[in-house]
Amino acid sequence: MCGIFGCIMKDGKVAPTIHAALKRLEYRGYDSVGEATIDDGKLYVKKDTGKIDEVHERCNLDDLPGRIGIGHTRWATHGAPFQVNAHPHFGCSDPPRIAVVHNGIIENFAELRKELEDAGHLFRSKTDTEVIPHLIEEMLNSRQFAATVNIDSEFINATIAAIGRLQGSYALAIVSTMDPGRIVCARNESPLVLGIADDALYFASDVTAFLPLTNKVIFVENGEFVVLGEDLLEIRRLADGNPISRKTKLVDWSPGMAEKQGYPHFMLKEIHEQPRCLRNTLRLQNKYLGLLPTFLDRAREVIMVACGTSYHACLAASYMFSKLSFLATYPVIASEFAEQHGKSVNIDSTILAVSQSGETADTLSAVETARQRAATILGLTNVVGSTLTRISRVYIGQQSGPEIGVAATKTFTSQLSVLSQLAIQLAKRRGKISQEEIDLLEEKIENIPDIVEGIIETQEEKMRALARKYKTKQSFFFLGRGISYATALEGSLKLMEIAYIPSLAFPAGESKHGPISLITQGFPVIFVCPPDETRRTVVGNIMEMKARGASIIAICEEDDEDIKKLVDDYVEIKRGIPGVLSPIPYVVPLQLFAYYMAIERGCDPDMPRNLAKSVTVK
Ligand code: G6P
Repeated sequence: MCGIFGCIMKDGKVAPTIHAALKRLEYRGYDSVGEATIDDGKLYVKKDTGKIDEVHERCNLDDLPGRIGIGHTRWATHGAPFQVNAHPHFGCSDPPRIAVVHNGIIENFAELRKELEDAGHLFRSKTDTEVIPHLIEEMLNSRQFAATVNIDSEFINATIAAIGRLQGSYALAIVSTMDPGRIVCARNESPLVLGIADDALYFASDVTAFLPLTNKVIFVENGEFVVLGEDLLEIRRLADGNPISRKTKLVDWSPGMAEKQGYPHFMLKEIHEQPRCLRNTLRLQNKYLGLLPTFLDRAREVIMVACGTSYHACLAASYMFSKLSFLATYPVIASEFAEQHGKSVNIDSTILAVSQSGETADTLSAVETARQRAATILGLTNVVGSTLTRISRVYIGQQSGPEIGVAATKTFTSQLSVLSQLAIQLAKRRGKISQEEIDLLEEKIENIPDIVEGIIETQEEKMRALARKYKTKQSFFFLGRGISYATALEGSLKLMEIAYIPSLAFPAGESKHGPISLITQGFPVIFVCPPDETRRTVVGNIMEMKARGASIIAICEEDDEDIKKLVDDYVEIKRGIPGVLSPIPYVVPLQLFAYYMAIERGCDPDMPRNLAKSVTVK
């Protein structure tokens, strides 16, 4: 998984713009970076391994001539992060005539590579991408292409013919000295968006890349290609070359929203943004909040599919739907969906897919499996215009703004807020709980942004201190009962992904069936214990752990003196949050704990190793 960007400018030098845009896309992948520009009919390239700043320091990414260029930030799928595997990739010709950047996976690359090698092509890299420039060269050499797209450029016609032979996912961009004034882009499954300014045209994997430059965008759909030139923007269908007309949209994310605003890391900034994001979720239009429950209500079965943090939101939501709307829902990890439910899902099934990016390959693949069996698809995502929004019958945008830190924080609490509002709407519709209870829940949900603000204000220092105290621990347990199991899972995931500490989350009741055997003197166990129906039994579980020498940290209500007395350390949450809404505030100290543990242990919380923000491969 990778980020691609490119542009054609009327004046000036394109390389610094590409460099800055790649920096904004670095969260999509950051093991290598590369740029190619064209100037005076010649192709210029810089590429190397490492994060963008490191590569820039070594080889000055701004120092390439030309007003047209493409760039790439890489997250390895095929081929280790070596310089030779960094994009752009070229064909055989020396000096290179064609440069390609690509996000996605070419599934039939092995066959294509063999065929091309048999025809005499020499490959330099281990990537799937490299087949593309060779294939274009081969098309040109053997003149195996017809001018199907009716464009006066052999290079473009050959390129489209070559793309026609690719199977798999791609957002790609190609420049060539044979047609030095144009860029060809194409899309299948991987995201691609165009940005339009008065003095330049851009393409990118997502809007964040060019947000400081323009907010006028066009989303490219699957099976389309784009030809960009000075004053030229043509979108056409890959299948037959027919032109497509599509309106420009205005996105209302300001460039400032995508920057760090004084925080040392995006993750900390995004944790602090939560009160504002939660307020945004309370402003969702009723027409959307009303529509989804209509579908949920009439479904024979509701399956929620998601990955990572979004899956934890689904798990919490399954308790919300059950407790408030008396609706059984099944949270399923998206990559398991086809195996587990692929045959049973049908026209009476409703799939609620939850994905921050709306582009996670496993989630989209689960949705596709369900779609093929005529299930109804509902979506919850942060990225309107993403693939998920386009394939859902109805979707809700959670409106959290761009999230740059790889570890999801603000988007998780916003997902929970939207899902809890859906559960309340459905409860109303089904008449399952009293008006009094609904009024109380609605009042509490309105208070949550302030409560989260209070937690950040009052508990951040405490979490920093706890991180100092526990920074040398080798592993952690996170335990919670009921809906707090989802909170525990999310706390554990955060700690694991950014501070690299192996940690386990279990339903507290299940801890005696295995994990307890690991407890020795001082083993840290974090209990999530809001004062709901589970509290009494959780106290029992705390006692079991304590008796075996565990060091206990509790996330509990501010006046829960019994728990405070029992444990080694505690974090206080303002009183009065109903258990069913508790994951929203109770996860916040766990996010801060993971953040400060990462800092204490010298890890970069924004760019955890081997992870990526949006995983667009299966
Ligand atoms: C990656 C990210 C996680 C995210 C997951 C699902 O693993 O690192 O933070 O929760 O993908 O992403 P989605 O965009 O579908 O919510």
